[in-house]
Amino acid sequence: MTSSTGPFIAAIDQGTTSSRCIVFDRDGRIVAVDQKEHEQIFPKPGWVEHDATEIWTNVQEVVAGAIAKAEITSADVKAIGITNQRETTVLWDKNTGEPVHNALVWQDTRTDALCKELGRNVGQDRFRRETGLPLASYFAGPKVRWLLDNVEGLRERAEAGDILFGTMDSWVIWNLTGGVQGGVHVTDVTNASRTMLMNLHTLAWDERIAESMDVPLAVLPEIRSSAEVYGHVKDGVLAGVPVASALGDQQAALFGQTCFSEGEAKSTYGTGTFMLMNTGDKIINSYSGLLTTVGYQIGDQKPVYALEGSIAVTGSLVQWMRDQMGLIKSAAEIETLASSVEDNGGAYFVPAFSGLFAPYWRADARGVIAGLTRYVTKAHIARAVLEATAWQTREITDAMTKDSGVELAALKVDGGMTSNNLLMQTLSDFLDAPVVRPMVAETTCLGAAYAAGLAVGFWPDTDALRANWRRAAEWTPRMPAEQRDREYKNWLKAVERSMGWID
Ligand code: G3P
Repeated sequence: MTSSTGPFIAAIDQGTTSSRCIVFDRDGRIVAVDQKEHEQIFPKPGWVEHDATEIWTNVQEVVAGAIAKAEITSADVKAIGITNQRETTVLWDKNTGEPVHNALVWQDTRTDALCKELGRNVGQDRFRRETGLPLASYFAGPKVRWLLDNVEGLRERAEAGDILFGTMDSWVIWNLTGGVQGGVHVTDVTNASRTMLMNLHTLAWDERIAESMDVPLAVLPEIRSSAEVYGHVKDGVLAGVPVASALGDQQAALFGQTCFSEGEAKSTYGTGTFMLMNTGDKIINSYSGLLTTVGYQIGDQKPVYALEGSIAVTGSLVQWMRDQMGLIKSAAEIETLASSVEDNGGAYFVPAFSGLFAPYWRADARGVIAGLTRYVTKAHIARAVLEATAWQTREITDAMTKDSGVELAALKVDGGMTSNNLLMQTLSDFLDAPVVRPMVAETTCLGAAYAAGLAVGFWPDTDALRANWRRAAEWTPRMPAEQRDREYKNWLKAVERSMGWID
């Protein structure tokens, strides 16, 4: 039996590489975790898919697993919260519950040409004023359009009202609350803000944009706040428990890091890396390649907005070194290998596998390793891999400072890669700022649990959540300024080399 006494809040994190369920106690401490990876499907270069049915099966397994490990029952769980990989798009038949195609993952670049077409004569920023986003294959709207255009007969079925669209929050909530037997079809404002179909000012679907993108309104879920009861779990070990929050994983991490005040920021190191800064009730338009997005909305309170710097490939580069290159056996081994040399030996790795996201938004970029000589070993490449994450973060923090006028005092970090001490030190060196990691690095699940707990009165207010935040580790800069500036210039040269690979 767990040493914490209940009641508890559970959270599901449906992520890019795995699904997990974590049970938290009232102090925000982890009571039990269960996790399962799902298959990454790469049908063509640049295409990335997931099997939504496999994901739903895994979600049910990890929920059962976490509840079993905690040795509790549904009566001990006051609410469940959902957080998810954002933008990943699934369409399913509401009568059968079957997905009509594999889900198109946020990293998938197949809609590049469509995005170019949508921006013809008007430019990449055609919908930026309304949605805060540039036209890019990253977002869900163009993915819906691609599916409707490419799956035979789908458009007719969608127009007849038989097809539902969802990002993974909607898919999981619909299934949890009963699926074909009355599942609720909802999404929250944070996930909706990544579709390029929601107006940031009204928090409603923008009919004009949906029409330009040729997406029928009939497929879209109802947009709700991030913290309220959407419905109740229909079956399984948590039957009857309220489903009480949904937040895109990066917004959930902002919430879990308790960045509740304007100017507070966090950076999460997962498959990709995403830095978000709370901008309060201000919708700040970015002139430096950042996204404007919804941070969260608690019930009927006013929404909180955020600026975001999105990096597509960080942890997934380590995964690629392991699975596709076979240069390491486990993700943790990258640190040992990289630590076996003093520096990168002159090599720089720009992992533009899905083009370049912030601050460039260049669909025509592809990965490059620059600066190679015969001196370079796999250990130098391992070092360049870690440095790529740190340099990309530096580019984002520079853009944040420009757009917000706020100098970075310290960076709150979380996510799987933050257990890599060499990376955290490198990050502090490249940013020339302290890097701080909280006790609970699982801030994504924690944020979803916090939002669900607020919705059902498990926690009274955000002050109670702030009291749970505790510092676990801090890294401070050690690199001489002259070295940092020289290496940054090399990095930027390598970034330039990655552009223009695709017409
Ligand atoms: O926008 C994509 C992001 O939500 C994916 O996050 O942690 O699954 O890499 P993660």
